[in-house]
Amino acid sequence: MKYIVMADGKELRWKQYMGIHKYQIRIDGESLLERTCRLVRENEPEAQLIITSHNSDICVDGAVRYEPKNNKLEVDRFTWELIEKDTVFLYGDCYYTEGSIKTIMSTETDGILFFGSYERIFAVKIIDSDKFKSCIEYVKQQFLQGKISECIGWQVYLASQGSNLEKKSISGDYVIITDGTRDFNKPADYREFQEKEGKSVNPPWDERPIGMFDSGIGGLSCVKAVNERLPCESICYYGDCLRAPYGTRSVEQIREFSAQIADFIYSMNVKAMIVACNTISSICLDDIRKCCPGIPVLGMLDMTGSYIQEKFCGARLGVIATPATISSGSYPRMLKKSSFAGEVFTLACPEFVEAVEAGIYSGPEAERLTENVLDEFIKRNKIQALVLGCTHFPFLQDTIHKLYPELNIIDPAKILAEGLKAMTERGALHPASGGERKERFFTSKLTTGFNNAVKEITKVYPKIEIKTF
Ligand code: DGL
Repeated sequence: MKYIVMADGKELRWKQYMGIHKYQIRIDGESLLERTCRLVRENEPEAQLIITSHNSDICVDGAVRYEPKNNKLEVDRFTWELIEKDTVFLYGDCYYTEGSIKTIMSTETDGILFFGSYERIFAVKIIDSDKFKSCIEYVKQQFLQGKISECIGWQVYLASQGSNLEKKSISGDYVIITDGTRDFNKPADYREFQEKEGKSVNPPWDERPIGMFDSGIGGLSCVKAVNERLPCESICYYGDCLRAPYGTRSVEQIREFSAQIADFIYSMNVKAMIVACNTISSICLDDIRKCCPGIPVLGMLDMTGSYIQEKFCGARLGVIATPATISSGSYPRMLKKSSFAGEVFTLACPEFVEAVEAGIYSGPEAERLTENVLDEFIKRNKIQALVLGCTHFPFLQDTIHKLYPELNIIDPAKILAEGLKAMTERGALHPASGGERKERFFTSKLTTGFNNAVKEITKVYPKIEIKTF
């Protein structure tokens, strides 16, 4: 028999949660794919094992990986080109008990036999490959013509029974499996399973949001970077649009305002705080750490130094930031501490903050402004890599890149988000379980720029709440 373990589902269903794909989650020290292959082998040492996936990270001893030719529709995961007489399809995100694998392997048919619970299909055994192929083709056509709304294994089963494709029912050729066999569609399924089995959930989950704040829109570039890397995490964000910009204010004012906001975000029961503002991070990060006992507080410069030293060692490095960040000397100090060996040039660009707050970050006006502010600095100093030392500036990244395509652009928000992800992977910050994710956005003044940026980043148009101090 040929056993095909399907591991080519759309990534979004597990979102590379904590760096793992749902097929590679481990139970008792073994990935789901390894477990399935082992159980098949124990029952049939000569079995031919194929794992279908486009992901080259997926490899299991004794099984070959095959890249499917089609994977547009869910039903394509029954790799058409591999279907022959004596083929069994197994689901790669399934935890099979020893008993259910035995049942699947030993139950005979001369046509097509499905195995599963009342809700899910776990396997399909195919002797009559022509019939199976014609069922798939029929389901595909019905779907592509808009006659049915779903195009998955259930429709293939219903087609094989000659049943109504829209009405999920079990008639013949279906072996019900009601033991511990189950699939893992979302991280919460895995958690539920581990808890039910009495296995420790490691690392434990923490559903509390990650707090972030900035003087205004800028920190939303951090929200974006974090969302992209940790899509299951809830976020609680504050942007002080009413009092922005901070970068031209006095150190005392920056201290006072940021303490108010940090206090407020801390009171929202967050599990970590990201000071998504280089100005505040440069001036009073330690004060904020004192306001937020018991949780990690990360500043924009925390992880940037070693990254720059590693990737751009010896380069002519430009740092653009607000006047307050530049005069604090925080970047050159931090780079020196990281033993950065290149030359550092700094430039204060308050104009960029105002432009971004006003929603101007692409198009001719943004290009004109960017060129006026940066041209001489970049050319005169022969800058090779440019640090966006203000969280407002990543909004202008495409414009900067268009004008200076050779320039390496370093965005500390992305470095910080990578660091945060690494913290969840090594258990220094417990991740969310992947259940419902909540985002809360607060501002002291609802500007069009803030509203649009939140929409652009979240794509879900959350309600923005007003909070002043
Ligand atoms: N986005 C902030 C920063 O990273 C502050 C900009 C400002 O308000 O001047 O520095």
